Amino acid sequence: MSEQEIKVPDLGGADEVEVIEIIVSAGDSVEEEDPILTVESDKASVELPSPGAGKITKITVKVGDKVKEGDVVGMMEASAGGSDDAGSDEPEEKAEEKEEAKQEEKSEESKPAPKKASGGSRKETVKVPALDGFDNVPVIEINVAEGDTIEADDPLVTVESDKATMEIPSPYAGKVGKILVSEGDKLSEGDELLEMTVQEGGGEEEEASAPASEEPAKEEKPEPRSEEKPKQEAESAPEPQGATYEPPTPGAKVHAGPAVRKLARELGADLARIKGSGPKSRIIKDDVHAYVKSQLKQAQQGTGVATGSGIPGVKLPDFSQFGEVKREAMSRMMFATANNMQRSWLNVPHVTQFEDADITDMEDFRKAQKAAGEKKGVKMTPLPFLLKACATALAELPQFNVSLDMERKEVVRKSYIHIGIAVDTPHGLMVPVIRDVDKKGLWELAAESAELAQKARDKQLKPAEMQGACFTITSLGGIGGTAFTPIVNTPEVAILGVSKAAMKPVWDGKEFQPRLMLPLSLSYDHRAVNGADAARFTTVLSQLLGDIRTLLL
Ligand code: COA
Repeated sequence: MSEQEIKVPDLGGADEVEVIEIIVSAGDSVEEEDPILTVESDKASVELPSPGAGKITKITVKVGDKVKEGDVVGMMEASAGGSDDAGSDEPEEKAEEKEEAKQEEKSEESKPAPKKASGGSRKETVKVPALDGFDNVPVIEINVAEGDTIEADDPLVTVESDKATMEIPSPYAGKVGKILVSEGDKLSEGDELLEMTVQEGGGEEEEASAPASEEPAKEEKPEPRSEEKPKQEAESAPEPQGATYEPPTPGAKVHAGPAVRKLARELGADLARIKGSGPKSRIIKDDVHAYVKSQLKQAQQGTGVATGSGIPGVKLPDFSQFGEVKREAMSRMMFATANNMQRSWLNVPHVTQFEDADITDMEDFRKAQKAAGEKKGVKMTPLPFLLKACATALAELPQFNVSLDMERKEVVRKSYIHIGIAVDTPHGLMVPVIRDVDKKGLWELAAESAELAQKARDKQLKPAEMQGACFTITSLGGIGGTAFTPIVNTPEVAILGVSKAAMKPVWDGKEFQPRLMLPLSLSYDHRAVNGADAARFTTVLSQLLGDIRTLLL
């Protein structure tokens, strides 16, 4: 076995790049293509892969060093049978790809000038710029939401190939309109990202005098990059516990390479909570390890937020000893739902309050709307009434419209009423959110909930349509059951479970009357809500549903 040099391969056009992370150490065994170090140009962070399988004997660069194609960054002993051309250039195929990328970048110059509108702002559809030679790269993060006001260069989405993580910056300052992509979508140059209302920054005169054929201004030629604008200052907050903890700043972007993201995913660490110690506050692997250690320590000491770490896992037996079994990969959604459920269940002290609401009159009224509904093309189910009743109860008992920030020891009170509805779909449970339920009428709620439920079933929901709920309704009424104990959809503090309405004999003081009773199960976070308030909440709901005229009051 002879020692060989590990050299920097073709960098896709970048002259000199900075070493921002060293991933391996002397003595580490690596496979071909395993990442050795991460470098960062002004466009992207890229992992330099090992040219072959073997053992690292030396790394000759350090974080902060600048390297270029052909520089030696370390030495390795190639394992027997491994490639013996360590340090040779990239295969021709890759070089060709990168050449193509350069050509593509050049073609970006010919981008048409933006359309101009009359009233000081204009609509633009932002497209994916050249992606440093990459194609079909999955979106791993959407950094903006519909309605956000952003500056030119603010990151819009983050994409991640197997080699690099790139932020796609906004070419304009303005207001974000419809977001046309979702997490997981694969993007290539020219794909439509989102719509924007762009402010005419330069004033009418300047705009009017600029000929359409003029070279587009700099802001109209976005390039993917791993740089970011300075983060918005976090609100003044108490000192966090643990050196590596940072309270997440709404809208703030994490800055980390693919290997670090992978490590964080594997360890279940939330990158948004980790303070980066690398150049430009980039999160490096050491930060992730330090964060995980500090979280474990806090859990052991009983400080910080309980995460469930330390709870022994369930050991699986070899099921095949009992009979034939098949294993299949969990879908991303199933895995995410499982994690969310476990996180909520472990973090939230749950209590469930039960109540039956007499909906005999409500059902008479609802059924009487059938013809009107057919005319409107909208089906009126019990759900809109439940939404309206919950919105009223949330307004009356605002202690249910909060989230707890245990790190900061604060209660976050919300002045809006957005309600999530759990939708059963063939690919799993999804929870689209209806905004401003308190301001909408029953027909509007019926139409919107049907539309969102259909979008959920068709996998058409945008991330923004699943965010921002204050409270959730999960209705199994169309299926069956008498009661259940739903899990609070954290960081909300309560969820209403609805079971199937049934005729029951109800004593009116003189005799039993047949009444249609709707079983309600309100699970709540006992840290935020006390039992008396929960009983008040279900009582208010049952009164509102028992006499829907009171919904108008
Ligand atoms: N009691 C009796 N009947 C009920 C009812 C209730 N509580 N709720 C709904 N129904 C009836 C409806 O009136 C409708 O009957 P109809 O066709 O005779 O008019 C029928 O059940 C089907 O209603 P559905 O299509 O389910 O509409 P919805 O507006 O009530 O519910 C969703 C919409 C999206 C909530 C529902 O389709 C769904 O997905 N529920 C499952 C949620 C879930 O899985 N939760 C578990 C989370 S762990």
